This record gives sequence, structure tokens and C-alpha cells, in this order.
Amino acid sequence: MPTKLRRRYDPWYLTFDKQQGSRVWHQGKEYVMLSSNDYLGLSFHPKVIEGGQRALAQWGSSTTGARLANGSRRYHTELEEALAAFLGREACHVTAAGYLSCASSIAAFTQRGDVILVDKNVHSSIWDGIRLSGATVERFSHNSPEDLRKVLGQLDPAAPKLISLEGVYSMEGHIAPLKEFAAIATEHGCTLVVDDAHGFGVLGPGGRGTASHLGVDTSVDVIAGSLSKSLSSTGGFVAASRDMIEYLRTHSKQTIFSAALSPAQAGCARAALEVLQAEPEHLEKLWANTRRYRELLLSLGLDIWESETPAIPIVLGNKERAYFFWKHLLDQGVFSVMSIAPAVPVGKDLVRTAMSARHTDADFAIIEKALRYAVKKM
Ligand SMILES: Cc1ncc(COP(=O)(O)O)c(C=O)c1O
Repeated sequence: MPTKLRRRYDPWYLTFDKQQGSRVWHQGKEYVMLSSNDYLGLSFHPKVIEGGQRALAQWGSSTTGARLANGSRRYHTELEEALAAFLGREACHVTAAGYLSCASSIAAFTQRGDVILVDKNVHSSIWDGIRLSGATVERFSHNSPEDLRKVLGQLDPAAPKLISLEGVYSMEGHIAPLKEFAAIATEHGCTLVVDDAHGFGVLGPGGRGTASHLGVDTSVDVIAGSLSKSLSSTGGFVAASRDMIEYLRTHSKQTIFSAALSPAQAGCARAALEVLQAEPEHLEKLWANTRRYRELLLSLGLDIWESETPAIPIVLGNKERAYFFWKHLLDQGVFSVMSIAPAVPVGKDLVRTAMSARHTDADFAIIEKALRYAVKKM
């Protein structure tokens, strides 16, 4: 049953009539989009659009089936090779959604009798991967290597173990202390799997992700991620050793029983990966915008949950305050998204915002005015 607030404000599943760059239109009114994950702002880049169009013209609309049954296409393997090379991995496997890839990065490599140690704040796709694996699950406190050590100390040393983390947490904007986690994984012989959906394209030299940013590429066994954030497409990937990727291809239900990544999706992602490498100005602009936005939020006394990345929450603390803050921003022409308990811990109800390289000075003027208004009204 929708709550009173939900009935009154109807905040989710809005249908926009038009989108152009950082702006969207709803029922004739224009809004600055402040919640999308188009971190590098490439979704309207001419080369990305051209990449999608070219693939569509060459390969048609869809493979209309799974790769195991219908075969892969050259555009799959080329994208996989490009992603693997970018991430410094032997191999990569792409699927039609980040959700599928991230779930398969856990489910394909674990089974009943194994133990999965997981940060309690990971994304829903990881929890589904864990459930499907049938393995035993042990949670540890968010971003806490100390708690992971404690939990590991109570387990059978002989049981096969996998540690599951995110590189950057999508709601909180926190970066995982991967150096410490990687050292623990090595010490205890655990497989280390990182969902880097929000670190890929954002952190590290040239946007190579969180493991690269923290200098622990070789200690992370599996990197999973999404093509729907920095690469401005849809789809997902798992990158690892050749043996692990071959194993995943024959053991992951998420890929065996699901239709392949479509030509247009792959074409856009491939072009965006090339733009990311050829035009470093997008990453530079993203971080310049992020610093500017962060300073603005802090100067207004807002609680940003110590976010260190372009994913920046505004923590309001309860559902009512989150609703009102979100609505004040909307009234002032800024579209954001609310996340309330149980999607976030109790007391952390928030409005999630995200910076993009595409936000302009004109966008900033609207965002600042809206934030000042919302703060004053609370
Ligand atoms: C951390 C994380 N993992 C996986 C996903 C799933 O990716 P996609 O939306 O591309 O399916 C998301 C998307 O929100 C995410 O935030």
C-alpha cells in the first residue's frame, strides 16, 4: 500500500517527455537532471550516438537469443577485448545488464559449502547473486576491514571463501579501502570480487576504476560492473582471468539463459570507452564539477555522508524530511531521487544526487538556488 506521502507526491517512475544533455522535461516543465549516473556525460556525445547507430545498421536490432544458443557476434568479443585491455585483465564477459553481470560475478564462482563474506551495504544484484549461489553468507560492517577480520577469525579456515565488495558505494559515495581488504583476502586465501559499477570510468588513472586508483589491480580477482554509468549505455561486464571467464560462460545462469547484449548497446559502450581514453577532458570536468558541488553542499551545512565521489547523498534522517527536501528541489527545477529505509539504513533517509561532466554553469546556478530554497524551507 502506498503511504500518504507517496500518494501525494508520486515521486518514482516519472515519465519525461524529452531529454537533452543535462535537462529533462516533464509536463512542459524543464528540470536539471541531478540523479543520473551519466558521470562522464557521454550519452549525447556524437561519437557514442554514431557508434550505436553504426552497430544497429550493421548487426540489426538484436541477437534475439542467448550467446550459448545463438552464438556470440564480433561486436561482443571486440567490446570484451577492449574492456579487458582497459582493465588490464586477461578476459571479459558482457551481458545485457549490469544487474546480471554483478549477480553472476558471485553466483558463477560459488556454491553450497562455500562462504561469502559481504559488506552489508552492497547492491541488490550482489545479494541476488549470493542467494542463487546457495553458499553460506557472512556480513561484515560497511567498509570495515577490522570487522571482516573478526568474522573471518570465527570461520573454518578450510572452507572456500569469497569476499564481495563494491569499489564505490552507489548511495553513500564511499570508496572501499581496497588495499586493506586485498591484504586480508591474500592472507586468508579468499577470492576477491569487486562490483565497480560506480568506480569504473570515475576513479583511477584514465578512469580505470577503484582497484587501479588504490594500486591493487593484481590483488582483485574479479571486477564486475555496468555499462550504464560512465559508458552511457546499458549492459554489464565481468573481467577476470581467462580461466575464470571461461568457467563463468558455462556456469552462469544469468548469461546462459538470457539474451545477449544488443548491437546498439554494445556499439554505444564501445564508442564511449574510446572517447573515455581519447578525450580525458570529460573525466577532468567530472571531478572539477564534483569538487564545486561538494563545496556548495558543505557550505549549506548539508550532511553528505562523507561521500568522496560524484555519487553524493544528502542525508535528511527520516522519510518525511527526505520527501519534503526532494519536493522543494523539484519545485525549483531540479530532479533528484529519494532513497528511504529499508533501502538505506534507518536514520539515513536521503536524497541521492550525482554529478556529471555535463553539468554546466547554468545548471549550477539552478542547482544552487534550489538547494538554498530547500534548506531554508526545512
Ligand atoms: C553497485 C551497482 N551494481 C550493479 C548495478 C546494476 O547495474 P545496471 O543498472 O546497469 O543493471 C548498479 C546499478 O544501479 C549498481 O549501482
